[in-house]
Amino acid sequence: MLRGHRVSRGMTQEDLAAASGLSVRAIRNLEIGRTRQPHPQSARLLAGALGLTDQACADLLRAARQGGRQPRPTAPAPRVSAEVPRGRCELPADVPDLVGRAEVSDQLVRALTERVPASVARLAVVTGGPGSGRTALVVRVAHRLRRQFPDGQLHVDLRGLPAGPQRAAALLGRLLRSLGAVNPPESVDERAALLRAELSVRRVLVVLDDVDGEADVRPLLTGSSTSALLVAARRPLVTLKAAATVKLGPLSERAAVHLLASVVGDSRAAAEPAATVAVARACWRLPLALRIAGSWLVARPYRRMSDLATLLRDERTRLDHLSVGDLSLRASVLAHLSGLDATERAALRSVARIGGVHFGLCDLVGLPAAGDGVERLLLANLLTPTPDGRYRMESYVRACVGDRDTPLVPVAAVR
Ligand SMILES: Nc1ncnc2c1ncn2[C@@H]1O[C@H](COP(=O)(O)OP(=O)(O)OP(=O)(O)O)[C@@H](O)[C@H]1O
Ligand SMILES: [Mg+2]
Repeated sequence: MLRGHRVSRGMTQEDLAAASGLSVRAIRNLEIGRTRQPHPQSARLLAGALGLTDQACADLLRAARQGGRQPRPTAPAPRVSAEVPRGRCELPADVPDLVGRAEVSDQLVRALTERVPASVARLAVVTGGPGSGRTALVVRVAHRLRRQFPDGQLHVDLRGLPAGPQRAAALLGRLLRSLGAVNPPESVDERAALLRAELSVRRVLVVLDDVDGEADVRPLLTGSSTSALLVAARRPLVTLKAAATVKLGPLSERAAVHLLASVVGDSRAAAEPAATVAVARACWRLPLALRIAGSWLVARPYRRMSDLATLLRDERTRLDHLSVGDLSLRASVLAHLSGLDATERAALRSVARIGGVHFGLCDLVGLPAAGDGVERLLLANLLTPTPDGRYRMESYVRACVGDRDTPLVPVAAVR
């Protein structure tokens, strides 16, 4: 009832706290039912701060006396049903054999559960290049956090949503429906406000996969720390204040070998240790490439690890072999490239044309990648800086950039 009155007046918990003289925490505890019988004086302060009519005020005071069990609220009913089953879990399956990410996984769990001021949104971001394992990591962390966010763990893959202006409305509508809204409001602003109001009084974990930029996330940032947002993004969300931003690179060689062994079986990997290391290196120690290469071998019990190493030896054809079932490194890279703007695409093409994996700024003089272009490609996780002050573009990225006249394929065509 308290929440209904507050939301219908467009007040945040902080506004109500300031107007009533109660603490934000006291108000939050009342709204989520943790405190069921406030002191009558507190209830009177709240009624005054909300400017309730006599009847609504009497109802609120009676509800406060009776522990919130009675009677029906007279405020407009919140548009999200209160009867939604608690703990709706939309998370995809956990990756049981996740390797090499224990430290960052702990860091993200800590970031989303540590004590923060009640009015600060909890946000953590995982970024990295194509196939670096962003999805697997956020899913793992989300599973670890299920108990801390018992009112639901929602999951949206933004690759499946339309690009352009309808995207925000589609995302907000999707999340509101997951929280039980039957008829989400039409306007994007109203949807965002209603979603934030709901997330502010529940303990929900929202996982967004394949986010393009800040615009996808900003409307969801609440003025409350009860819920949390865990995001896998193609680039860091630099203008948002995140409790943690984790950037995924290649696995260590040891973890890469471990991942291969867990896919093909320990005995097969142990039988040919040198070939296993060669395959791990040929796969750039990239989780997606390793998973695909391992699966190739699993599907061919009569082939040896050294056959796979030979198959992947030639860098010019390697990418063609890294596709199995619904996993394809090329498709992942193209999806990643499809999020670039025109300037970044031009910069990427000019770098790809230089030839060779390493390059320095002097190689770029007069090219679109000079200056800001390189910075933007670094942020988009398509280049890596090297210790000698130069840059690296991996051959799997270069191979997908194609010729100067080939358009980079839009994401819809990749899927
Ligand atoms: N640390 C890891 N240990 C074991 N397997 C992993 C690890 N990281 C990712 N994988 C596996 O590698 C594959 C690709 O990972 P994932 O989909 O998480 O990458 P991504 O960065 O999200 O890729 P995309 O660019 O396509 O979004 C999946 O099959 C996943 O299970
Ligand atoms: Mg992903």
